[in-house]
Amino acid sequence: MPTVTIHPSGEVIYLEPDETVLSGLYKAGYAYTIGCRRGGCAICKVDCHAGSFHYNRPVADTVITAEEAVDGTCLSCRAVPENDITIELRGENVRLVNPFLRQMNEKARLRAEATAAAERTRRAGTTTKE
Ligand code: FES
Repeated sequence: MPTVTIHPSGEVIYLEPDETVLSGLYKAGYAYTIGCRRGGCAICKVDCHAGSFHYNRPVADTVITAEEAVDGTCLSCRAVPENDITIELRGENVRLVNPFLRQMNEKARLRAEATAAAERTRRAGTTTKE
């Protein structure tokens, strides 16, 4: 379950596999500037400082230039994290607009921690048998 950490606030959003950054933000009750949600207007760009992502659909060169493609610019409505990433929003801070949905993100965090703990236990058991 990849996470998105928002710099500098430190908010952590838990995404489902193949979920976009923007979808995860909204699902967790946060708002950010959006436009088309289809990769065409470029208004949802954020800066990715750590981690990697790919786009779930092709993005036009006019929306993400070749230079932006390598400097960490991330089109949040199309970007799917490949691992835990850290982003910084442009020109505004993330806004919590739906506290109820934030509770859903907390449940996702608990599920992720339980899965990680189970994996550690499984690995410890494997190590003991070897
Ligand atoms: S909202 Fe238009 S490109 Fe992301």
